[in-house]
Amino acid sequence: MTAPLLDIHLTDADLTEALRADARAGLTADPKSLPPKWFYDARGSELFEAITELPEYYPTRTERALLRDVVDEIAAAARADVLVELGAGSAAKTRLLLDALTSTGSLKTYVPQDVSASALRGAATELAAEYPNLSVHGVVSDFTDTLHNLPRGGRRMIAFLGGTIGNLVPAERAEFLAGINEVLEPGELLLLGAGLVVAPEIVVPAYDDAAGVTAEFNRNVLHVLNNRLSADFEPDKFEHVALWDPTNEWIEMRLRATEAMTATVADLGLTVDFAAGEEMRTEISAKFRPEALSAELDGAGFTPTHTWTDPENRFALVLAERR
Ligand code: AVJ
Repeated sequence: MTAPLLDIHLTDADLTEALRADARAGLTADPKSLPPKWFYDARGSELFEAITELPEYYPTRTERALLRDVVDEIAAAARADVLVELGAGSAAKTRLLLDALTSTGSLKTYVPQDVSASALRGAATELAAEYPNLSVHGVVSDFTDTLHNLPRGGRRMIAFLGGTIGNLVPAERAEFLAGINEVLEPGELLLLGAGLVVAPEIVVPAYDDAAGVTAEFNRNVLHVLNNRLSADFEPDKFEHVALWDPTNEWIEMRLRATEAMTATVADLGLTVDFAAGEEMRTEISAKFRPEALSAELDGAGFTPTHTWTDPENRFALVLAERR
């Protein structure tokens, strides 16, 4: 192998610094909130993997089945030399894309990006072995602010799958899409996976499963604060809340304090008071209407060329060209 397998643009110290800033801002705000990206330490990533196998959590399996159905059409339309996958993590659904894009003959380079060096190292090593003719070049970075660290050259397709775009509020999405637009050349591509608006009876259980895995995933953000910032949250004193916001058309996850309490975040010199019943927002997961999604892409300088949806209209894959 000639190129390095992993480029590290984000160290553990950078991550701690970012968490400190987010924790200070979110825990001193009214209402309190924490960004969802802090769910994913090793335990949080395992819990998320478990979520994707729950009967109630349809997005992952729906997207995978849809991708399987249309991946050859994507490959034919894309003719990509380079596949950049944002938030690749363990790169579970990557093989579908890599198989299709390599069998069209054009793909030469795969660039998985993630914040987690450990997840990425494993995935990059496995994929480099499985696809000997492919140059695999992992990038450890935060996708929201280090897009400029992605390798250049060749016709690129940036894939952002899983519906993670829904973790951003509209203004953040506009900024994120503008950032992608800026690093791409005209004619290069974005492949976006997004959850669609479905009935609350379907979407709410997906975020509030009977086995309580999502509740544990939600509380994991408090374990992360305890471990990384020497905080003393008692996660079991917080209840998982998942509600559908019909105005914003997003799922909102919150942690509700079951009693009045005070937590200390030692590394920030911060004490945080919770009233009994107080709720802290930990994630939004926005769902989309296809026309609105196209309009957002258009507004960010992309021309959507294809939209594929599953038979039940729960998930969409959109291919869009940078203008
Ligand atoms: C990984 C961001 C796509 O929003 O559905 C799963 C995370 N949160 N259950 C999502 C999640 C609660 C997931 N994403």
